Amino acid sequence: MRIDYEDKAKTLAALTAGERDQIALMATMVCELHHADDRFDWTGFYRVTQPEILRIGPYQGGHGCLVIPFSRGVCGAAARTGQVQLVDDVNAFEGHIACASSTRSEIVLPVYGADGALIGVLDIDSDQPSAFDQRDVDGLTRLLQQVFGGSSDKA
Ligand code: SME
Repeated sequence: MRIDYEDKAKTLAALTAGERDQIALMATMVCELHHADDRFDWTGFYRVTQPEILRIGPYQGGHGCLVIPFSRGVCGAAARTGQVQLVDDVNAFEGHIACASSTRSEIVLPVYGADGALIGVLDIDSDQPSAFDQRDVDGLTRLLQQVFGGSSDKA
């Protein structure tokens, strides 16, 4: 099963209408994403809880590490650069943090609030190599902008 980003946008609009609490929004988005696509083994948010630090937020899948500094991992790279990280082979990504040995590929997107501040990252892992492509970058970027109000891929 592959996610239909247009359909998911409509679902999320209905589920999150009027909601402003970020944790509630993250939990709802993770639940909807994780069960919509067979490629998604781990789906979750890491939140900026203090300068240069990400802490785990709502997620689905096996346990994830609790704290990631901006200097480490794929998540840290997304937070540090403001760029989407599309990783076809996690073993080829220097400094990749393996929360599960089964992970083969990963996509991480920075998440911005309506005020333009970085509020965290969305991390999706897959046990399939090269599982993600530009369609996922575009679709997830649009969903993040819709739900959190900010541009999720700053230049
Ligand atoms: N792989 C991520 C760490 C988070 S676990 O995958 C849930 C990284 O390298 O930042």
